[in-house]
Amino acid sequence: MKRILVIAIAAAAIVGCSRASENTVPAGMETPTMGWSSWNTYRVNISDSLIMKQADAMVSTGLVEAGYNYINIDDGYFGGRDEKTGRLLIHPTRFPNGLKPVVDHIHSLGLKAGIYSDAGYNTCGNYWDKDTIACYVGLYNHESQDAEFFFNETGFDFIKVDFCGGTAWQNNQMLSLDPQSRYTAIREAIDATGRKDVRLNVCRWDYPGNWVRDVATSWRISHDISSRWSSLKSIIGQSLYLSAYAGGGHYNDMDMLEVGRTLTREEDKTHFGLWCIMSSPLLIGCDLTTIKPETMDLLKNGELIALNQDPLGLQAYVVRHDGEGYVLVKDIEKYQGTVRAVALYNPSEEDLTMSVGMSDLDLDGTVKVRDLFEHSDLAAIEDGVLSVSVPSHGCRIYRLEADSRLERALYEAETAYLTSYQEIYNPSVVGSGYYQENALASGRMVAANLGCSPLNDIHWKNVYSRDGGDYEATLRVFASEKSKIFVSVNDGEGSLVTVEEGKDGPQEVTVHLTLSKGDNDIRIYNDRERLPDIDCMTVAR
Ligand code: GLA
Repeated sequence: MKRILVIAIAAAAIVGCSRASENTVPAGMETPTMGWSSWNTYRVNISDSLIMKQADAMVSTGLVEAGYNYINIDDGYFGGRDEKTGRLLIHPTRFPNGLKPVVDHIHSLGLKAGIYSDAGYNTCGNYWDKDTIACYVGLYNHESQDAEFFFNETGFDFIKVDFCGGTAWQNNQMLSLDPQSRYTAIREAIDATGRKDVRLNVCRWDYPGNWVRDVATSWRISHDISSRWSSLKSIIGQSLYLSAYAGGGHYNDMDMLEVGRTLTREEDKTHFGLWCIMSSPLLIGCDLTTIKPETMDLLKNGELIALNQDPLGLQAYVVRHDGEGYVLVKDIEKYQGTVRAVALYNPSEEDLTMSVGMSDLDLDGTVKVRDLFEHSDLAAIEDGVLSVSVPSHGCRIYRLEADSRLERALYEAETAYLTSYQEIYNPSVVGSGYYQENALASGRMVAANLGCSPLNDIHWKNVYSRDGGDYEATLRVFASEKSKIFVSVNDGEGSLVTVEEGKDGPQEVTVHLTLSKGDNDIRIYNDRERLPDIDCMTVAR
């Protein structure tokens, strides 16, 4: 918390230096990073001229005007390390003049420059791409020296830090490092350079744990993307229930875009559209110099980009999982206002007719509908239901504007924040909570493995009451044994409710709550005993 505050104050002082300030987004609330990265198309086969040409193309194609402004050099530029001085060396044939002229060129175009490193000794390209020179080039034991080189001497504005060097089987030294302490040390080294505007991307391939928002602007939540439908579907699936961890200038990174390579048109649209509404960084991964017109149109779709760069910085959450389809929604423009963005996503192999009630989206009255792929207004919804045909692997995304906003009644556990949530260690061993499929649960998901520690709890931090007042909250749970559940509001004293063992399915318990005006933090916990699996909570006056 302290770190975020410090960054916010420092960022506020750097007037006009970030896109955030140009957009009048509050300091520390930067929107997801947009730009280009070398990895998806070129892997380690990069060079200074290649990077500079991509930067030039970012400008000449007009992608800059659409909001893309980072040119990120991924793995492949390393040239070893000077044994005596420890200084990082740059690849002699790929970057014969070093990195500085490349960064200067990127900056001269008004763009920002990004670089790549590893938290251990070697990079992933060293292991996977047999880039033998990329050994002992990572940040391990060189945090300060490399940070000084990258950010003060060379002028980079962004760094992605990988973890092959910290994962024993992916490095020769068999180093097995602790991600939290490594990335914290790296953040401290970056801050110690005096540069407070450097964006850090944690690349540990699974959601690392809630410590990550104190150190990073974004963090990967999946293993590497590839230009195949199975890869997209898997990454989207891994991000569906992470909305509680995004926002406030910190984002789940669904990996670099494969748009414009080998996916079908429909899949490209799903890819870009969902990355937008789920507020992932948008790093283009194709060759900008040969980009196809339809790819360019998609990547420049300003109405979708507006969802990604929306100042509220929210990740859409799953409001309905129906058949094989998902409906996701988020506020845009004004928190708890009458405008929301909705996505209807069909990952199945069949075309689907998907429907969602406006009341499920907390909208009321006549609802105006704008199709953000087609840039067209559809007939307004008068009967309270949006029903649309969504092709296999497809997605439809709309901006909805209603007469009025309802208070949200249903809070699914899979949209809640688990204080212990992480995907690196086995949750059964470390005792952390997780989201789990359960066919009988309302959204077919529950939050499981909770309780037994004050830190293994579940929060809905956004239980909104327009005026404040008295509410009844009904918790739906699956209890494999008689259980005690404590419920507190805004850190107040917890109320105790008990549930009997419920072998035959879910049970409901009701508790009276007094909510304050605005957002309330409802916490479910049991410091000493196991909690039942939590399905959802409904709140009503
Ligand atoms: C890992 C990362 C990729 C890319 C490569 C580079 O696999 O997840 O995104 O950076 O390393 O070697």
